[in-house]
Amino acid sequence: MATLNVNGKPHQVDVEPDTPLLYVLRDNLGLHGPKFGCGLAQCGSCNVLIDGKAVRSCTYAVGKVGPGKIVTLEGLARRPPSSRPGRAILPSGRFVRRSRTISAAAGRTRASSPP
Ligand code: FES
Repeated sequence: MATLNVNGKPHQVDVEPDTPLLYVLRDNLGLHGPKFGCGLAQCGSCNVLIDGKAVRSCTYAVGKVGPGKIVTLEGLARRPPSSRPGRAILPSGRFVRRSRTISAAAGRTRASSPP
């Protein structure tokens, strides 16, 4: 049993620690913002933020998350508009856009955090 903080809410999940985070988010928590694309940490369609850093959830074991705060596209949509990535920086392409949205949000988090 693990407790995950996803989009600001705690969730108890009963999964093996080596289960990919993507499967837990989609299958156990019903979040469909992160998508399965390549499954090889190459395309970024499964990107989520963990403590502000972009992570490929298809290859990231749920046991590695610990107390980290996970944010998916659904969580980004609830943020105030001023903290969301701008549309101008998003290229066309569905999976690329998902990847870039999370990566842009990760960049904003880093940029707004003092070193
Ligand atoms: S599904 Fe392609 S990087 Fe995770």
